[in-house]
Amino acid sequence: MLTVNRAGSFMFAACALFLSSCSKTPHYELSRFVSPETCGGCHDTIYEQWRGSMHSLSHGDVLYREVALKDLRGLTDPDEIKEAEHCVSCHTPVGFVSGMPRKTSDHMKTIPELARKGVQCDYCHSATGARKMYNAELNIDPGHGEDDPGTKRGPYGDSESDYHKTKYSGFHTRSEICGACHDVRHVVFGTKLETPYEEWKRGPYAARGIECQSCHMYQRPGVPATGSTPRPDNPGKAAAGGPERKHVFTHYFAGGNTLVPAMSGDKTIAEMAEERLKHAATLSIAAMAEGGVVKVTVANTGAGHCIPTGLSHVRQMWLEILVTGRGGRVLLHSGALGRDGRLDPSAVLYNTVFGDKTGKPVMNVAQAREILRDRRIEPLANVVEEYRLSDVKETSVDVEAKLWYRLADQKLVDSVMGRGKISVPAVLMASAKKRVRIR
Ligand code: HEC
Ligand code: HEC
Ligand code: HEC
Ligand code: HEC
Ligand code: HEC
Repeated sequence: MLTVNRAGSFMFAACALFLSSCSKTPHYELSRFVSPETCGGCHDTIYEQWRGSMHSLSHGDVLYREVALKDLRGLTDPDEIKEAEHCVSCHTPVGFVSGMPRKTSDHMKTIPELARKGVQCDYCHSATGARKMYNAELNIDPGHGEDDPGTKRGPYGDSESDYHKTKYSGFHTRSEICGACHDVRHVVFGTKLETPYEEWKRGPYAARGIECQSCHMYQRPGVPATGSTPRPDNPGKAAAGGPERKHVFTHYFAGGNTLVPAMSGDKTIAEMAEERLKHAATLSIAAMAEGGVVKVTVANTGAGHCIPTGLSHVRQMWLEILVTGRGGRVLLHSGALGRDGRLDPSAVLYNTVFGDKTGKPVMNVAQAREILRDRRIEPLANVVEEYRLSDVKETSVDVEAKLWYRLADQKLVDSVMGRGKISVPAVLMASAKKRVRIR
């Protein structure tokens, strides 16, 4: 059944049974959206930045699609299937609101070209607000296609374009536009699957008015723009023929992903992600090892949320510690990476772990009913890790500490993509070295 709401968009009053939330999802014809290439005709710099970003790639991302399809297979519980069919709502929001793909299994069909362009210009710039601060429940007001593009909302109060109407939107200047998609909850169980917005909101950056955009939309090559670095303005033009602006918000949206953006051949965003990771944390080693206990402090100095954040049951951030005595004798080595990309099981690992209905750890988010473990570092907070040395005869030892990050466990990627297909890079986020006295 179709009903028409005041804004002239169609509401699906009754949808296929597998999508509990779709009765609330307004429907918009795909033809109402303007392609990013058209926007790029005038906003060429912004378009070039966005084109290689994880937003542009969110539907094309093979890791995402292979995981989504793999997770779907073998599920029998209808509540779990509902979640597994819901992935497309964020990964291709324009496709989802226009009905193709409506569900994850549609990935096996031919999907219209525009819907394959991920989180795109016209979706974000048609947004007027959010119904909820999770699961991509944004309200949008798109135009009627290329010939009648409607109103594009943004941060200026005085901008003019011959092509589209413009409107100031406070929503675009605040973290809420990001949080509406970046906080992810299980559609049936409510399990909090990703929470960067929530972590930001309860943290020190929100209190100081430093928004997601203040870091992520100031970054450009050579300017990491994190909590521990300057975040200078990026003066220039927002459109060809437009006026000079004090700051033009950048659209690279670099995070921690150093792999997928580089797969297309352009390394710019992968390098920016690495730069971002290298300005997120610091390590320090205590000068004294009381009772033979070496202490290493890990501080989140640069991220506006926990490290790691987002998909943190998949992301891996861990400490490697090497303690050597006289003549280079190894007294302790924890957190080393094996030749096949296998992580030492004794490594101090920062991540989250979900539990299924029997309380067992589970990787498939569709089966995530609870959070069994959350070991991450809050913004501007630190944790102290202790390593006990046994049988030390030295009065001092050399300690080397390294903080590493990778997108996912190599074994997990092998199980999804096939062995030897993709080698997951590890990024060195921070390191420290010290001669430590034993007491
Ligand atoms: C024919 C050229 C042209 C095209 C095509 C175009 N724009 Fe614009 N747009 C402009 C100009 C010029 C401005 C004004 C820039 C300024 O004031 O600095 C502008 C301003 C904007 C603003 C700022 C609005 C504000 O008030 O803050 C947004 C957002 C925007 N455009 C988005 C888009 C999107 C999305 C598309 C594609 C659907 C698009 N534009 C297509 C020329 C264009
Ligand atoms: C994920 C959502 C999102 C996507 C996708 C996106 N933008 Fe933006 N854009 C924003 C936000 C948010 C701002 C304003 C940031 C602020 O004020 O804090 C912005 C600002 C702008 C502006 C104002 C000038 C500036 O950069 O400061 C223009 C023009 C613009 N975007 C055009 C585009 C075009 C063209 C595309 C596609 C190539 C695009 N945007 C894709 C969210 C998005
Ligand atoms: C329509 C939903 C949506 C909105 C709105 C949105 N994002 Fe995203 N964003 C995504 C999705 C989906 C991905 C991940 C794609 C993937 O990894 O396959 C992503 C990826 C990212 C990444 C890259 C993560 C990585 O691992 O490298 C960053 C950074 C990011 N977004 C920041 C922002 C910021 C800042 C805003 C607000 C200005 C925003 N996003 C708004 C959906 C959204
Ligand atoms: C003070 C600066 C700062 C602010 C504010 C900030 N971030 Fe980040 N963000 C970072 C840094 C540094 C990293 C890299 C470390 C990491 O991956 O956690 C990052 C990484 C990310 C990632 C990639 C996570 C991963 O490893 O897959 C996402 C997604 C993201 N941020 C989203 C957001 C959103 C959404 C907001 C607002 C709610 C936000 N960020 C606010 C600095 C910031
Ligand atoms: C409410 C929005 C939303 C929904 C729904 C969603 N995702 Fe995502 N997904 C994101 C965001 C945002 C990121 C980026 C987070 C980060 O980088 O930490 C992401 C990243 C990913 C990645 C990492 C890709 C990479 O290149 O590392 C995978 C895999 C993924 N999602 C799978 C899924 C699956 C499977 C589902 C459905 C069960 C799903 N997502 C549903 C928002 C969503």
